[in-house]
Amino acid sequence: MKSLLLLTFLSAVSGLPRPSLFTENPALSSKSLLTRETPAAAAANTTASSCSQAVLALASGIQSNIADQNNELATVTALGNVLAQNPMDLTLYSATQASLLSFVQKGIQIREENQRIAPAGNAAIAGLATVAMAQVAELSLTVSLALGGNGTDVAKANATVETLKGDFKGGIKQNMMNLAAATANCTMSAATGSTAAKSVAY
Ligand SMILES: *[C@@H]1O[C@H](CO)[C@@H](O)[C@H](O)[C@H]1NC(C)=O
Ligand SMILES: *[C@@H]1O[C@H](CO)[C@@H](O)[C@H](O)[C@H]1NC(C)=O
Ligand SMILES: *[C@@H]1O[C@H](CO)[C@@H](O)[C@H](O)[C@H]1NC(C)=O
Ligand SMILES: *[C@@H]1O[C@H](CO)[C@@H](O)[C@H](O)[C@H]1NC(C)=O
Repeated sequence: MKSLLLLTFLSAVSGLPRPSLFTENPALSSKSLLTRETPAAAAANTTASSCSQAVLALASGIQSNIADQNNELATVTALGNVLAQNPMDLTLYSATQASLLSFVQKGIQIREENQRIAPAGNAAIAGLATVAMAQVAELSLTVSLALGGNGTDVAKANATVETLKGDFKGGIKQNMMNLAAATANCTMSAATGSTAAKSVAY
């Protein structure tokens, strides 16, 4: 009972990925992540080597993508709040939708760069392809939220906003798994690793 509570607590504070839309890599189970991130265990393991510059660059790129995804989630949430106004501020709606579109486009550029710099055989490569597919759908949904000549269908736009909230949360979880996979065979600096592990609370 105590150990179950401890595990639940550790899972909650470390923001471990709990994907619903994406398949989970068994190699990245809560247990193996926790083991890997325990400083005592890492220190005791003399065989694990430091990550190469290429892997560190990829890890940094994935962290940038996660930061952009957090902006996407915050912006689509703001768009939902604008939709809830009555009467709705159409100028604010348009500006918020445009801002969302630019975050989505930036996320695509970051992911493309991550795919370009990923070292051959790196374990994050499959997960980056999953992000790429999700981004295609997110871009299309975001474009569909643009104001038309007759304004917008609030109920329809609201449903799209709710879908995007779930998509962005799923994308953050996927990139958290990608970050773990990218660095699975090497050690990152403790500061960078713990920041990455705690940056998501969804
Ligand atoms: C230490 O490294 C070895 C070889 O890579 C691995 O098999 C083992 O699981 C690692 N142990 C820990 C505690 O990380
Ligand atoms: C948007 O959808 C959410 C979730 O279904 C609902 O709680 C909210 O009231 C809706 N807002 C509008 C403006 O339709
Ligand atoms: C990690 O090591 C395993 C076993 O040696 C290997 O199959 C895998 O490709 C390696 N992953 C990365 C990211 O280098
Ligand atoms: C606006 O609505 C009218 C009447 O339904 C329709 O004929 C027109 O094509 C619409 N314009 C745009 C830009 O959607």
